[in-house]
Amino acid sequence: MKQAARLASSFFVFYAKQMFAETETFTLPSFAKINLHLRILGKRDDGFHELCTIFQTVSLKDDLTFQPNRKLILTCGDENIPTDGKNLIVRAAEKLREKYKLETGAAIHLEKRIPSPGGLGGGSSNAAVALVGLARLWKFEFNFSELVKIGKQLGADVPFFLRGGTALGTGRGDEISPLDDWAEKGKHLLIVTPNVSVATPAAFARLNAARLTNNSPKSILQICRGAAQTLDLELSNAANDFENTVFQIEPEIGRVKEKLLSCGATRAMLSGSGASVFALFGDKESLNNAAVQLKKERSWRVYKVETISGREYRAALNLGDDFDVRKL
Ligand code: C5P
Repeated sequence: MKQAARLASSFFVFYAKQMFAETETFTLPSFAKINLHLRILGKRDDGFHELCTIFQTVSLKDDLTFQPNRKLILTCGDENIPTDGKNLIVRAAEKLREKYKLETGAAIHLEKRIPSPGGLGGGSSNAAVALVGLARLWKFEFNFSELVKIGKQLGADVPFFLRGGTALGTGRGDEISPLDDWAEKGKHLLIVTPNVSVATPAAFARLNAARLTNNSPKSILQICRGAAQTLDLELSNAANDFENTVFQIEPEIGRVKEKLLSCGATRAMLSGSGASVFALFGDKESLNNAAVQLKKERSWRVYKVETISGREYRAALNLGDDFDVRKL
């Protein structure tokens, strides 16, 4: 029965016209993610890597403001962020226009706060929110699974940001299955991003992962589901396979992890391929004390965040809980 419901909802057709009535300027939040767990299972024939990861949305966010406009324009106050076709927001808009044969434009403004690059999925989050926001602005009917398909073409993390909360990512990280919220209430964390960056393709290449041979997708999913079941609030069984490689490429990131632990974190772990490291603390006071210590490192950015549940995520994006498709 549960399976049938899952299947039915995965074919759920979402009518933007009914759900999104606004025509004026509106702003949507674009939340960051951390990876509570990230295992790289091997290299695939298409050159990508088979992943088993657990995503979690957190309160650190950018804002995207959408306005009707004849042309497609992206603006951003941060001059390090490209506003041309290199930006995933523009690519998302172009893909939508191409797919649905639209000629309308939009003026989109990006208020950037998520460090980029930083292993926090900022660009992918922006792309997913652009898809949702433009569907609303342009008021067209779209099929949710089509949106996921477009998301996958934009980047492996994009489909996750069409759902948010806690979720399992397999395949390239783009096959998403929802999980129960890792933390029942917002769990407080610190994220620290040093002023160095790691190119994701270079990090994957340095891993030198073995070719996948006999692990069928079904058994991989089983392995990943097993890992998700053992995930506890302290992340005692969690790991990020990028850590050794990334700490070798940029020792400063390893120093962030050590410093977080020496400042009282009960657990500290790299997010994605870095450079951000997130940390858990026993209580709010020790988290606040650590933040004060860490801010003394002038080149490090320190963020106090809390987890965002799937329900909160979808409410913030006005998606309604219908968007809680069981398997995208
Ligand atoms: O999809 P995304 O833009 O995040 O991927 C960036 C790069 O990371 C890819 O072009 C690929 O080189 C590498 N990658 C990979 N295996 C994955 C995801 C990404 O090798 N599962």
